[in-house]
Amino acid sequence: LPLPCDLHPGRRSARGVELGHAESLNALLADIRAPEQPRAAPLVDGFSLPGHVRPVTSPIDSQTIGTVTEADEAIVIAAMAAAEAGFPAWAATPLDSRAAALDRAADRIAADRGALVALLQAEGGKTLDDAVAEIRETVDLCRYYAAEARRTLAPTSLPGPTGESNVLRHRGRGVFACISPWNFPLAIFTGQIAAALAAGNAVVAKPAEQTPLVAAHAARLLHAAGIPATALHLVPGDGEIGAMLVRDPRLAGVAFTGSTAAARAIAHRLAERNGPLVPLIAETGGINAMIADATALHEQLADDVLTSAFRSAGQRCSALRLLCVQEDVADEVIAMIVGAARELTIGDPRDPATHVGPVIDATAQGRLTAWIEAMERQGRVLWRAGEDRPLPASGLFVPPAVVLLDRARDLKEEVFGPILHVVRWRSTEIDMLLDDIAANGTGLTLGIHSRIAATADRVVARLPHGNVYVNRNMIGAVVGTQPFGGSGLSGTGPKAGGPNYVRRFALEQTVTINT
Ligand code: SER
Repeated sequence: LPLPCDLHPGRRSARGVELGHAESLNALLADIRAPEQPRAAPLVDGFSLPGHVRPVTSPIDSQTIGTVTEADEAIVIAAMAAAEAGFPAWAATPLDSRAAALDRAADRIAADRGALVALLQAEGGKTLDDAVAEIRETVDLCRYYAAEARRTLAPTSLPGPTGESNVLRHRGRGVFACISPWNFPLAIFTGQIAAALAAGNAVVAKPAEQTPLVAAHAARLLHAAGIPATALHLVPGDGEIGAMLVRDPRLAGVAFTGSTAAARAIAHRLAERNGPLVPLIAETGGINAMIADATALHEQLADDVLTSAFRSAGQRCSALRLLCVQEDVADEVIAMIVGAARELTIGDPRDPATHVGPVIDATAQGRLTAWIEAMERQGRVLWRAGEDRPLPASGLFVPPAVVLLDRARDLKEEVFGPILHVVRWRSTEIDMLLDDIAANGTGLTLGIHSRIAATADRVVARLPHGNVYVNRNMIGAVVGTQPFGGSGLSGTGPKAGGPNYVRRFALEQTVTINT
């Protein structure tokens, strides 16, 4: 059975060629080099500001890999004031020049892949192919949003019966707060900023507290590419810094990716402050299910399940949490999945042979370990890595596991790690299964493995999930091809990497002239 994350030269996956041929893999490995003493600090008008300094440690071995100077209230206020002052000039910059700056940013990011891979691995615990895929996604996002801005934001004449000139124009809204997560510390951090800038906004960016070094490096690359220091400001810090940002009455919009609870808190703060009514572009998590019926091809299903549940140590908002297998084939499918999962290599993600690296921090490790222990006490754990071969002795590793539940509705929270839950369903119970899946209120990714087109149609008609994947894995949405994002408890709906995304960051203005 093919393993999900193999670095076979030229291997084709559902996302295309992962790493090209052997020469490019060797060239990449030779390129990887951590920047010396990486540092992150608040950047306001391009100046690094002083403040409280703390070490940044790696989830691989808890070693210090750099330092971060965290923002405080005064710095947040200064960043907002600077962004407000920088906004008019950036908004007045011709659309094509803004887009050209993003194209240059894409070039810089691609050219700096050696340092970025090193940082993504050391700070984010990413495997080699996850780090490479993230850099590619980041480059794609910058180029795609630049192209979409050129295509969708130019003034449009709207002919009509009024006998007047009617022109629909787009303009920046003002200062956007971009608040990004640690699981895609480069792609989501940069993608939010690129969309906001493309639409003519100034940005104050708050990266996740676990991954300030990747973010600071990316911000420097954006500035070096010609994004004015007055248009992009950085405030590293924890959730309190994010809360201060979104209370600011000068804010014109928020792009947020993270937990549902944090998105709700942001919506409250935006509603309570004395400022304009502004958009919240939120992408949160999901209790993502895959439904497999008796017609599924077992080997393909097992491969797609392993990729979806365990790649990136399950730390993707798209990851599979709940596999629902039809009773008739459940024994065989579950045995095949557990058999294949036993072959996963868990360890240092800098080793190209590793499939599953560490989780992000000790809090995540503790939460996931407590979950597995609770499932073990209930006698639900079918398999847990480490039973057959030892796990790394140190580092923030969580052994991948397979857990059997009675009903899909029993999984009520997003377990954000390498833990796959499985339920069995009878063919007479498919409506109950779909009701159970709908009942958790999330709507991000959904997998279907079936060779019967009518079954896939029925599932798609019943469930509103933002990204539905049929007969393949359910992670790694491709920019421009598989716009990504969900609704309900999974987000406010805008699709990152989609043709309508940049416009969500812009104001529309209709100018009617009586000619
Ligand atoms: N965009 C990522 C994916 O599709 C999200 O987590 O996997």
